[in-house]
Amino acid sequence: MAQLWGGRFTKELDQLAYNFNASITFDQKLYRQDIRGSIAHVTMLAKQGVLTEEEKNVIIDGLNGILKDVEEGKLQITTEYEDIHSFHEAVLIERVGEAGKKLHTGRSRNDQVALDMRLYVRDEIVAIKELVVNLLKVLHKLMKENTTTYMPGFTHLQKAQPVTLAHHLGAYMEMFKRDYSRLEDIYERMNYCPLGSGALAGTTYPLDREYTASLLDFKGPTLNSMDSVSDRDYIIELLSALSTIMMHLSRFSEEIIIWNSNEYQFIELDDAFSTGSSIMPQKKNPDFAELIRGKTGRVYAALTAMLTTMKGLPLAYNKDLQEDKEFTFDAIDTVKGCLTLFAGMLKTMTVQKDKMEASAKNGFTNATDAADYLVNHGVAFRDAHTIVGQLVLYCIEKNIALDDMTLEEFKAISPVFEEDIYEAISLKTCVELRNTIGAPGPKAMEQVIAINEEFLNCL
Ligand code: ARG
Repeated sequence: MAQLWGGRFTKELDQLAYNFNASITFDQKLYRQDIRGSIAHVTMLAKQGVLTEEEKNVIIDGLNGILKDVEEGKLQITTEYEDIHSFHEAVLIERVGEAGKKLHTGRSRNDQVALDMRLYVRDEIVAIKELVVNLLKVLHKLMKENTTTYMPGFTHLQKAQPVTLAHHLGAYMEMFKRDYSRLEDIYERMNYCPLGSGALAGTTYPLDREYTASLLDFKGPTLNSMDSVSDRDYIIELLSALSTIMMHLSRFSEEIIIWNSNEYQFIELDDAFSTGSSIMPQKKNPDFAELIRGKTGRVYAALTAMLTTMKGLPLAYNKDLQEDKEFTFDAIDTVKGCLTLFAGMLKTMTVQKDKMEASAKNGFTNATDAADYLVNHGVAFRDAHTIVGQLVLYCIEKNIALDDMTLEEFKAISPVFEEDIYEAISLKTCVELRNTIGAPGPKAMEQVIAINEEFLNCL
């Protein structure tokens, strides 16, 4: 056990207590951010005359050496140190001597860890945004390829009205576009630097916090030192955005599972994204969609854990805050994995256009259009609704589709029907007439696809 704060103590920490308190097993993930923050800190201290140029250079060279050695596997981050901050400082002092002891001037681990987490989350937001964009591109391509792939649209998981696969996928496109914009918002709001807040009350050194912030590409320094060391709102916001991404992926996975089922056969997942059964030789299971749906729970858990950890924390820093890391790291890694896998699964699946179309053709998805036909011929909508209800009942009894009825049969229920009813209730017409923006008709879809194309091109 090696700790930074031994001076005031007369006894070593109990080993179990030490282990319980230590965070190095998980906060070592922050080693890059920790070194980057320290380099900015000493650069600022030298500019302000708190350190000499010589001391600054020695410390920076030492820190860069540690970074290089860790990256190359020459230096192991070991658990004999309490946390990543103590590890870096101890190794620095061991390597460069006296100058190393000045690294922590005007700084506390409270503002140091607040900075490290912000840098980490900021980097990860960029990485997650890229993965969302990758998924959006896969969806965009599929949409362009499927503007005339007819399928049933559902409400209550009952066939409702015909749509196209492009239109159905377009719904997810909107969801993931919102996810992207949520990540952008969070980035903007969190992009302020907490370093220089000290333990809670700033410091007596003439720190230039604006300068440190600019060295680390922040928009500026945070404005309240007590808030800075204890604020984890940006983590909660991120976990909320990640939970929403997972909710979207999970809904989509559920549909993939249904579409891939033997009963539907709307799509077939590629062998590279399916698994077999150890006992049933015929099986080809959508495990990845199921796993993504399942992993949604652990991301929600991270959000709930973080909200609960923060609830009731008095200002300013409390050790409870150390609990922000494992859940956040896990949620980020989970979402990155799920986004990557989902995009691959979508890209490689086969769309069974004929199966989708056949399904849209039965199940009376054109019943509303038959009613609209009557309305266009002077029948009041409520009466038209009743007439078509009778048609549907008749068809169910005869086990046929509306399109299979003879004109005589139509006329027996309402004399208003003429030969053009067939054209009016054809799948193509049902979709093609729905051209208000947001609807599945080809003109409306063309407009939306162009807007999406523009959105993707401007990223
Ligand atoms: N490991 C700690 C954390 O993650 C670092 C800050 C420690 N500060 C303290 N006052 N003990 O929050």
